[in-house]
Amino acid sequence: MNGPRRSVLLLSGPNLNLLGEREPSVYGTATLADHVARAAAAATARGIDLQHLQSNHEGELVAAVHAARGRSAAIIVNPGAFTHYSWALHDALAAFDGPVVELHLSNPDGREPWRRTSVVAPVATGTISGFGGHGYELAVAAVATVLDREASS
Ligand code: DQA
Repeated sequence: MNGPRRSVLLLSGPNLNLLGEREPSVYGTATLADHVARAAAAATARGIDLQHLQSNHEGELVAAVHAARGRSAAIIVNPGAFTHYSWALHDALAAFDGPVVELHLSNPDGREPWRRTSVVAPVATGTISGFGGHGYELAVAAVATVLDREASS
């Protein structure tokens, strides 16, 4: 990738600040900072500047998506439990003009029935779930590939 550096927003939803302590049998022992560092390294290698925001508040996440309009080339979002019911986040992402990757550490489809609904999926370019921390690198790779493809078409 020799073009201009691109900016990508990584958003982390509620309770992800507790990663490392929170249900380690489900989410592993790595912290959110570990995952962000992994994603940032993968991004740097692909000519991407990664910005990260974690919030436990729906409105802050919505505002971050608004602020990304015209500024970020793509969004990677692990919406936490907002995945399953935040139509506000759905609508904000629908108004974002760029690729959106929905990311989960666990595989929500293999868990409780209420986790099998994602209101983010309909406005996402694609979803990566179930690969634990490796998903962060996969998400960056997916975004880079989509952006490269867009740039060359
Ligand atoms: C999660 C899955 C969600 O169902 C859950 O509410 C989370 C984390 C994941 O990364 O696996 O908080 O998004």
